[in-house]
Amino acid sequence: MNGVMERASKRIVIEQLEKTNGEPPVMIRGLHKAFGDQVVLNGIDLTVARGETLAVLGRSGTGKSVLLRIIIGLEKPDAGEVSIHGQEINGIKSARLNEIRRKMGFLFQQAALYDSLTVEENVAFPLKHNTNIPESERHDLVGQLLKSVGMEDDLKKMPSDISGGMQKRVGLARALALDPDILLLDEPTAGLDPITSGEIDELILKLQKEHAMASIVVTHDLQSAKTIAGRLALLHEGNIVIEGAFADLEKSGDKFVSEFMRRDN
Ligand SMILES: Nc1ncnc2c1ncn2[C@@H]1O[C@H](COP(=O)(O)OP(=O)(O)OP(=O)(O)O)[C@@H](O)[C@H]1O
Ligand SMILES: [Mg+2]
Repeated sequence: MNGVMERASKRIVIEQLEKTNGEPPVMIRGLHKAFGDQVVLNGIDLTVARGETLAVLGRSGTGKSVLLRIIIGLEKPDAGEVSIHGQEINGIKSARLNEIRRKMGFLFQQAALYDSLTVEENVAFPLKHNTNIPESERHDLVGQLLKSVGMEDDLKKMPSDISGGMQKRVGLARALALDPDILLLDEPTAGLDPITSGEIDELILKLQKEHAMASIVVTHDLQSAKTIAGRLALLHEGNIVIEGAFADLEKSGDKFVSEFMRRDN
């Protein structure tokens, strides 16, 4: 991290989370979620360590986005635990949840950016609303963040005037604005051509190296998962049917797993 970002992040007024020794950044136990009669998550267990990237794979409609929304606390599970740095988030006060959320960067599947704000204002938004960093310093920090994703020349543009790949880059810069220790990305390469997808993957790898976050990346792009994640979890019919390295999924004898791997490869 460079000097400006380091100084700025030190000034961020956030109550320090109790990072109990050995508590993983993200731990999920026995997570259940249904919408009416439709059971979406049926007993999910997941742990993500610091510096680790987990890819969550699965067909459309299997509950990948729901899982991320539960981890952020935007959706309540029916049963189960979600612990962030050892703190169970279900049922906690909203002020406390907001404090925890400030250390989580996320990129939504849709509407990665605020349409009515410029690129620069989008990245400045979390800093403006969650910190007391003075304007000039904030300006420098936004510049650094946009530079780190290769978007420093488009500060004044509106989201509608930049490409999908560029929007994802800006969304990544905004997700990193509060120097998160957990990063959640929902389909960061969906809808992008293979070359742009590859560039976004490289960028994610670079950012992970620089920030050593615990990351969860939802994707149905196997190539992308292979590039950016050390561990993959495949969601199917409410459960994680397999979890392991890419090679483990490739050599699995399970019928669904091997079909999934063949179809997308
Ligand atoms: N708020 C909601 N109310 C009712 N049903 C919902 C709600 N949110 C999600 N669902 C349902 O839950 C299921 C899982 O949705 P989710 O968005 O998590 O899928 P996904 O795995 O992210 O799919 P995709 O790959 O297409 O993004 C879907 O059938 C969806 O219709
Ligand atoms: Mg989704």
